[in-house]
Amino acid sequence: MKVTVLGAGNVGATCAQRILEKDLADVYLVDVVEGLAEGKALDLAQAAPLLGTSRRINGGTSYDGASGSDIVVITAGKPRTPGMSREDLLTINGKIVASLARQAAAVAPGAFVIVVTNPLDITTYIAGRVMDLPRERVMGMAGLLDTARFRTFIGWQLGCSATDVTAMVLGGHGDSMVPIVSHATVGGVPLTQLVPPDVLEAIVQRTRDGGAEVVKLLKTGSAFYAPGAAVADMVGAILNDQKRLVPVSAKLDGEYGMDGIFLGVPVLLGAGGVESVVEMTLPEAELAALKASGDAVRAAMEMWSSLAGDDPAGW
Ligand code: NAI
Ligand code: 2OP
Repeated sequence: MKVTVLGAGNVGATCAQRILEKDLADVYLVDVVEGLAEGKALDLAQAAPLLGTSRRINGGTSYDGASGSDIVVITAGKPRTPGMSREDLLTINGKIVASLARQAAAVAPGAFVIVVTNPLDITTYIAGRVMDLPRERVMGMAGLLDTARFRTFIGWQLGCSATDVTAMVLGGHGDSMVPIVSHATVGGVPLTQLVPPDVLEAIVQRTRDGGAEVVKLLKTGSAFYAPGAAVADMVGAILNDQKRLVPVSAKLDGEYGMDGIFLGVPVLLGAGGVESVVEMTLPEAELAALKASGDAVRAAMEMWSSLAGDDPAGW
């Protein structure tokens, strides 16, 4: 098994480390900065005996090493700086992802693609169109991260382990994301029976602001430990055919009344990639919020098309 990680920055290197720690696959790291991917790969290779893995890791600026990859993870691009929205990153990262996707398609045409670069739901759409991939093979990582944040804040509120919190955050990876309160449970007990509505609303808002809170503290760059762990979870689900039911940015084909956009929805993730999109029954307000989130993603997609033109060959 081989995973190529494009972008050897904070998220790329952390997710490579997690893939090795979990003994999931060999890794090939790519970065445009001379020596960066090679240096981090060398450091991680030297950690392998300590991690107890025989997996190999290499890196470089060339895409040749990506040949034969089972999965390509796209993390290259600019992270947010304080006050910057994910959409602000659209122009610069859209072009980077289009260029990377084209190069990855040339050397690893059969790979699954997991996009991480922001603005997530649009860059995933861009990668899918440039590489001309069916919806099973291209997906974005965000829902697992946003959900991990939601679960963490719920656990803190109740003084219980976040591992006992079952929840999902759906919608776009942005201010419009929808932490689903109606179906959340803690040890099987409905969350709404455990936390009063005003506290719940504060947790929901903190989840939406979860990325920005980290950006504000770090001052340069954005979160990478939780994002790296979330990507490794998705890689493991695919390579080990785990059939996880997790939120992933996937192309909608009429589900939830939406079409043609990538949006965070529950999917069955296994050896076939996005094996199905799972439609859950949501209360009216949460469904309306999900549709509003879809509208925000569509507006950003249209903004991209008006900036870049509608022809993927020119992106
Ligand atoms: P970073 O700045 O640490 O790393 C980005 C790397 O991409 C740098 O090493 C840079 O040299 C490389 N790069 C830039 N252009 C490239 C190109 N054309 N080819 C190859 N490499 C190139 O940033 P970080 O923290 O790793 O974040 C990466 C991206 O992931 C950002 O867009 C960030 O907003 C996004 N992100 C998304 C999350 C999500 O939930 N979807 C979570 C965390 C970050
Ligand atoms: C996050 O949510 C920046 O999208 C990234 O941390």
